[in-house]
Amino acid sequence: MCRIFWPEMMSDPLIHILSPQVANQIAAGEVVERPASAMKELIENSIDAGATRITVRIAGAGKKRIEVDDNGYGMSAADAELSLQRHATSKIESSEDLHRIASHGFRGEALPSIASVSRFRMQTASDGEGVEVRVDGGGETVVKPAAPRRGTRIEVLDLFLNTPARLHFMRTDKTEEAAIVDSFRELALANPGVVMQLELDARTRFDFALQDEQARVQAVMGQGFADNSVEQRIEHEGMQISAWLGLPTFHHRDSTRMMFLVNGRVIRDKQLIAALRAGYRDVMFHDRYPVAVVRLEIDPADVDVNVHPAKREVRFKSPQTVRAGIVACVRAGIERMGHSVSSTTGEPALQAMQRSTGMPAFNGGQGGGGMPRFASGDYRATGQQRVPAEMTRMLFSSPEVRESEQVYDATARLDLGYPLAQIHRCYILAQTDSGVVLIDQHAAHERMTYEKLKAQLAGGDIATQMLLTPEPLTLGGEAAAWLHDHAGALHHFGVDIEAAGDESFLIRSVPAMLGGEELAEMVTELVESCRLIGVDHEAGSSGGARVLERWLGNRACKGSIKSGRRLSHEEQLSLLREMERTPNIAQCNHGRPTYVRLSLNELDRLFGRQD
Ligand SMILES: Nc1ncnc2c1ncn2[C@@H]1O[C@H](COP(=O)(O)OP(=O)(O)OP(=O)(O)O)[C@@H](O)[C@H]1O
Ligand SMILES: [Mg+2]
Repeated sequence: MCRIFWPEMMSDPLIHILSPQVANQIAAGEVVERPASAMKELIENSIDAGATRITVRIAGAGKKRIEVDDNGYGMSAADAELSLQRHATSKIESSEDLHRIASHGFRGEALPSIASVSRFRMQTASDGEGVEVRVDGGGETVVKPAAPRRGTRIEVLDLFLNTPARLHFMRTDKTEEAAIVDSFRELALANPGVVMQLELDARTRFDFALQDEQARVQAVMGQGFADNSVEQRIEHEGMQISAWLGLPTFHHRDSTRMMFLVNGRVIRDKQLIAALRAGYRDVMFHDRYPVAVVRLEIDPADVDVNVHPAKREVRFKSPQTVRAGIVACVRAGIERMGHSVSSTTGEPALQAMQRSTGMPAFNGGQGGGGMPRFASGDYRATGQQRVPAEMTRMLFSSPEVRESEQVYDATARLDLGYPLAQIHRCYILAQTDSGVVLIDQHAAHERMTYEKLKAQLAGGDIATQMLLTPEPLTLGGEAAAWLHDHAGALHHFGVDIEAAGDESFLIRSVPAMLGGEELAEMVTELVESCRLIGVDHEAGSSGGARVLERWLGNRACKGSIKSGRRLSHEEQLSLLREMERTPNIAQCNHGRPTYVRLSLNELDRLFGRQD
């Protein structure tokens, strides 16, 4: 072995071990990003200590004071002192433990980190002996006897008092408080068996009682979500997934209302978000996000939680399995939702009507009753009382209705009633046994076209239409080059193309359902979708399915009954019956509702006919 000596450096090494105070402050930089993260660490410690009641008191958005009081096991004086040393933990012992972590904590870093950037006070007790520990800005740990108590109380005062850069980067009180509220809600969601209270500047913000999972989800996510979601549980390759899935029409502008719990730990993970969105892709427009709570129970050996200092992310041994499980769960949930539409979708209309009549605002989200509100009735049994005789005859002699009798599961049956009128050539007003339905003819037809094409494609048998005169198509350089190599891939989607030059082609046939105008545009979009997703001749692969979703999601709009078209009574009737047979009909391809219901009850309220 060769050693190199630099004479001038031999006496004084340049490298030295950092003092614990500096090391802790560095760790704090990662673990304690803001007041909400300090609170999260303290609550997780309380949960690990077996607490069944946790009270959090916040002053000045957590910048002034964060207090977490629990009724957990507490600590002896010796442990309390040790708990403030870096890498001191009671939760793991060996590296084997690291591969199957069941507790929230394991790094032994949170308390010393927090205590290095605040004025830290802790009262705890064990075996009837109380102790108080104080640390100011990571200085000396002062331990004194104190009155015995149940559990542990930790106060974090003046967070970041000695780290001006961090202090500077803290956001406004409002923003920091919002982060605290969000984090508290997530932790409450993950721990329904713990009574959890949050006080902000001495005012109670949350007071969650001991609850079962369902009740806690409702308490945390709100009544609106409870009314507009279904619960779905599945087992997938040894993994248990229980999810509360918002209806596709109950969407949100970003991913903040998607919650993931992995073995009881709150996780914010791009892959999980992507998986959930993939499950909803077919029924939600791409710039909207589902609202959902997904709880995953997985063998701890199959998930590495030691990948993020604040433990917000995890790494799965088999991310594909997790993704497939979530997608399967969402698809099963969506199937069960059947024909439900978010109860909030009718609200704005109703409120607008009430404003114009000077009536008090109607609380549609609460009053409608969610799923039961959309439960389907038996059309035949009730229809006779209200449907005019000739209408009834027409309805039941229609081959479509007879056909639908065979395929329908009575419990899943959607009842859109019978049409009364077309309004402004755009909406259809229909009467049902329990009220009225307003149907957006364009949105409804869009979904029906999409679902039909999807079924045809899945069956590998797209009904095509040969063009009498081929339609010319001109494409730009790259797209044209792609098409010369991959024209065969388009055949699978019902489009036949013939090359006529470097950048010019002839369209020979198109899917029958999409025939009509703008053929060149339609084929250009298909080429773009295929190129984007990278599909070639294997259109049956999952890539092929994704092309369809993308292409048809855009196309179906254009081939649909446009708003503005007058529909005969027969056409209206057949539109309604066909809607009832179409999967995912409650929303169009962009996640907008295709129909809105007003129950008689709601109409009565609107006109002040109810107490
Ligand atoms: N509220 C509490 N009740 C009882 N013991 C606690 C409490 N808070 C902390 N402790 C003890 O103090 C130790 C150190 O806590 P700390 O949060 O610093 O580390 P950890 O929880 O083990 O790991 P991590 O840094 O990943 O959170 C814990 O292992 C636990 O034994
Ligand atoms: Mg901890």
